[in-house]
Amino acid sequence: MNNPWNKINLSDYENHMKLQSVMQLQTLNEMMKEQFHDYPIHTVMILGVAGGNGLEHIPANIGKVYGVDLNPAYLAECERRYENLAGILECIPADLTGENLTLPHADMIVADLLIEYIGYRCFQNVIRKVKPSCISCIIQINTDDGFVSDSPYLHVFDGLQEVHHNIEKTALTTAMEQSGYSLDTQKERPLPNGKKLVRLDFTDNCQHLPKKIK
Ligand SMILES: C[S@@+](CC[C@H](N)C(=O)[O-])C[C@H]1O[C@@H](n2cnc3c(N)ncnc32)[C@H](O)[C@@H]1O
Repeated sequence: MNNPWNKINLSDYENHMKLQSVMQLQTLNEMMKEQFHDYPIHTVMILGVAGGNGLEHIPANIGKVYGVDLNPAYLAECERRYENLAGILECIPADLTGENLTLPHADMIVADLLIEYIGYRCFQNVIRKVKPSCISCIIQINTDDGFVSDSPYLHVFDGLQEVHHNIEKTALTTAMEQSGYSLDTQKERPLPNGKKLVRLDFTDNCQHLPKKIK
């Protein structure tokens, strides 16, 4: 399948996401800063990294950042923007729903507004391959007016309906428990249009990652 994300310009995506009435790019950026600083990790994999929103908050002690996305133009722009992370940032072009997926290990997976486009089962498959100690996800809780907020860019996203999955906290927590991870932390951020972003962190039941940084 030619994924609809391959047809969306990064500038259209980002311009929509940062509208004052949407505010998702800015809110995600602030939430990512916390995601990167909350755990004592050395390697992190960001799924659906797009143009690299939030990467300016990568702490100096992180030695490797994998940015995964299926859109190669997004990854090229991400690398161009973060030349300062050369040698640390490695962009991996990959379709996370693909059957022969290979991914390196990382201590932490960050998946912000990504599970909505691959579904629970493919997300579990990614986790099986990467074997992280912790997983920090942000999901969007929608109001009745759909998963894409109203904006002048609305029709740019028309094709996404065919790959979109509704993700909700209880089902995601159950899927993560099946994969051997327990819910550790939950935080919510309201958005201007009545939607909200919910961060859910899961930690590995077996590996005993050193306790969260307070
Ligand atoms: C809603 S955006 C999230 C962007 C980002 N986390 C942010 O802070 O703006 C979803 C991203 O996931 C990527 N994506 C969607 N489906 C994918 C798949 N099957 N495999 C890999 N990346 C995918 C898209 O190309 C897009 O960059």
